[in-house]
Amino acid sequence: MFKQWALLVLLVQLIDKSVAVVRFENLKYELNKDYMHGNIFIKSQNDKYSFGADVELAKKVEGSVIITPHLQHLIKGEYHTMVNIDLDTCKVDPSMSENPIVRTIAKESTKFINFSLMCPYNPGRYLLNDFTLDSESPLLKLIPNGKYKMHLKANHYPTPDSAPIMLFMYSIDFELFAAAS
Ligand SMILES: *[C@@H]1O[C@H](CO)[C@@H](O)[C@H](O)[C@H]1NC(C)=O
Repeated sequence: MFKQWALLVLLVQLIDKSVAVVRFENLKYELNKDYMHGNIFIKSQNDKYSFGADVELAKKVEGSVIITPHLQHLIKGEYHTMVNIDLDTCKVDPSMSENPIVRTIAKESTKFINFSLMCPYNPGRYLLNDFTLDSESPLLKLIPNGKYKMHLKANHYPTPDSAPIMLFMYSIDFELFAAAS
């Protein structure tokens, strides 16, 4: 009886390769109320973590939008920068970025969003629906298991010589762990 049960568990593990391999925590964010309102949140259900957003953009955003993702990896108690770049989403689609980590995260995100990553951004409702990573995610081939801090800031420059206007920023910690598959 026990052997049959153990065999069943093993089979289920072999078949279900898509186990979640990420845990999110410590989310902080700020939205520029002149442009948008809404929520960014972490969900956890049966130990499956996801990251979501539901934001209403009130006015059109065009000109230049500089997104600055800053990704740090915790190694022996110290954070080491893995990514820290400026992306102009009015010029380049982040899912075509030259940076492979940015490109892969952006490509993964497109499975969970209902809008284009490239500017211009028209008024409307922007959803990020339960972003998560499973053991099949190509990101796992690029960055090792462990703890990370992601900080992302978006600045709007309506004209080339305007001062930066912060659109939104968030920071989140996440942990990637080995999935037995
Ligand atoms: C995204 O989905 C929401 C809810 O269905 C909808 O109101 C909104 O118009 C969609 N946004 C875009 C850019 O398609």
